[in-house]
Amino acid sequence: MESRFLSALHCRNSGPPPLWLMRQAGRYLPEYRALRAKYSFLDMCHQPDLIAEVTLMPLRRFDIDAAILFSDILIILEVLGRTVRFEDGRGPVIDRPLRSIQDVRELKVGSVVDTLSFVTKGIRALRPQLKVPLIGFCGAPFTVASYLIEGGSSKDLALTKQWMFHDPKGFHELLQLIAQVDIDYLRMQVAAGVDVIQLFDSWAHTLAYPQFREFSLAYLEKIVVALADTKVPVILFCRGSSVFAPDLATLAPAAIGLDWNCSMREMRQRLSPHVALQGNLDPSLLLAPRDVIRKEAGALIDSMADDPGFIFGLGHGVLPQTPIEAVQTLVECVKTRASVSV
Ligand code: CP3
Repeated sequence: MESRFLSALHCRNSGPPPLWLMRQAGRYLPEYRALRAKYSFLDMCHQPDLIAEVTLMPLRRFDIDAAILFSDILIILEVLGRTVRFEDGRGPVIDRPLRSIQDVRELKVGSVVDTLSFVTKGIRALRPQLKVPLIGFCGAPFTVASYLIEGGSSKDLALTKQWMFHDPKGFHELLQLIAQVDIDYLRMQVAAGVDVIQLFDSWAHTLAYPQFREFSLAYLEKIVVALADTKVPVILFCRGSSVFAPDLATLAPAAIGLDWNCSMREMRQRLSPHVALQGNLDPSLLLAPRDVIRKEAGALIDSMADDPGFIFGLGHGVLPQTPIEAVQTLVECVKTRASVSV
């Protein structure tokens, strides 16, 4: 597959930067909301035809360079015998959160391939319909552990960190278990046909630096190492990557997804030219007037002009209240501004 996105992941893109957006298939799309009026989010994640349909929605509207599989990082909890539901206004809710190492040892861990066969079917349904690479993904062990322990989203991860400090050994046991399930899950996605993997460590920014190395980075490393033989490029995304990027780069991933608290240009100067950089606009920029969007996006493109390993994107997901026209403006800006400089 001739692809700008894959070229940039290998740090050898010579044209305009490729572009895709986290949460590009989500609630800001009217066609997504229309489908959501008929099905629950979980139903949509379980039905292969709907997985394919929703993944394709943003590609029909915008000239973007990658598709990301429609699913969620918490679907994997089904392999651990836990169910998750998504409540409006509250987000994910996990039944029977884990409160001790005893709870971890009592988990009935199932087969990834059997439990999540609907994901394989979704990927297979998508493959023939795609002209751009498909990104598969999973939640990193620390982030998934935090949901299992907190029972849902939490502001400060107090229960998670309490456990981490009181019983680090037990906490490592949980992280190791999730890492193994993640590895099985990602290998299954690769076998089904994804071209690229992104790991989401969305809560890494809550960790102090030594804790980040011990409880997040060490497990990202296990996953990167376990996938090496597949040759599939791996993107490491975490909130906090402005601070953690040099450590993430030591794992030699194909790319690092940067949040918006750093200068992409400065980060490029600090890091190996062999790691691609993805990001890093503030997602709320898409709530700004058009001229502001153009100005900020243009400044980012110009600051990374001619960088063979730059992937244009946001530092986190598209916000649900984002006007569709704002995404259109952003995509046009990347495509037209970049083509001027070629
Ligand atoms: O990016 C994409 O378009 C692909 C699909 C995708 C979703 N979630 C769809 C989704 C991906 C890659 C995710 C990852 C995910 N899920 C993360 C990591 C990235 C991040 O945002 O930090 C996390 C932490 C989750 C867990 C999760 N899923 C939460 C906390 C919520 C509720 C908050 C919210 O945004 O609604 C979800 C729900 C969710 N995941 C929706 C979508 C489209 C909204 C569901 C709906 O229609 O109500």
